[in-house]
Amino acid sequence: MNRVITFGRPLPPRPFVSSAPDWQQSSPRWIERALAIAKSRDCGGWHVVDTRRAVGAQPRRYRIDGNDIVFWRDGTELRAAPDACPHLGASLSAGCVRDGELVCPWHGMRLGRSAHGSWKPLRTFDDGVLVWLQLPRPGETGSIEPAITTRPERCIDATVRMEAICEPDDVIANRLDPWHGVHYHPHSFRRLNVVEKREDEITVRVAFGVLGPLSVEVDARFHCPDARTIAMTIVAGDGQGSVVETHATPVAPGRTAIIETTLVTSDRAQFSVALAAGALLRPLIERAAARLWVEDIAYAERRYALRHG
Ligand code: FES
Ligand SMILES: [Fe+2]
Repeated sequence: MNRVITFGRPLPPRPFVSSAPDWQQSSPRWIERALAIAKSRDCGGWHVVDTRRAVGAQPRRYRIDGNDIVFWRDGTELRAAPDACPHLGASLSAGCVRDGELVCPWHGMRLGRSAHGSWKPLRTFDDGVLVWLQLPRPGETGSIEPAITTRPERCIDATVRMEAICEPDDVIANRLDPWHGVHYHPHSFRRLNVVEKREDEITVRVAFGVLGPLSVEVDARFHCPDARTIAMTIVAGDGQGSVVETHATPVAPGRTAIIETTLVTSDRAQFSVALAAGALLRPLIERAAARLWVEDIAYAERRYALRHG
């Protein structure tokens, strides 16, 4: 067992759900059941695309659920539409934006807010941190806006986007298995015990390694607000109210984008200094998240490979 010395805000004692080894607690049946409940929650046809910082003045293409979509900004308004020009099919993301309109790189057609034949702008949403696109999958009903997880008001946000050879379910299932944390990411997690387990959510007491045995211990709750999102909220300890949202967006069959945003908050007085240095801290948070996702992508891809041979 690792030696763990915790510092920071102490947590009240809580009994652990089980003292069985992690491989016994990590029940495939529970994970599949929690995943099935998550999948029964309608997304309203919304997909997370990327951090809002990634969509700026120039048009940018993303592949979402088998469709090439171009995103651009009309002033501050976020716009999206099929990437193929309705004239002869040029890729509009290779064009430019003038006065809020897309200009096709081949013959200069200007396209904007209104439809042109079968070419139609799509519904988008900018939640202040992430950019969303509405493209309902079979069985999904369109909602006016995506359901946003409760977020802290004063926070530093950091987002990573990575792609994996798997389906969205594999990404969510990875996060529904916190028991792998200490074994699979020993560089980050020193100790982890489940303190509450319901049918569709789980709360763990987890010690994050800071330096050697020095660790910060918090209670973190995992829940799935919709079929393609799992959120981890710190419910007790330092950073209470901080959230990590993990979104799984289908790119194409057998390919999924993981867009994970970390929203760090604290009620400590020194947090104002951290907020002011948010731009400097953001890359550090993103590097730590990407490091974990390199490993978790291997986990998700392994799940997918076992199903597909
Ligand atoms: S292909 Fe776009 S204007 Fe001709
Ligand atoms: Fe993990």
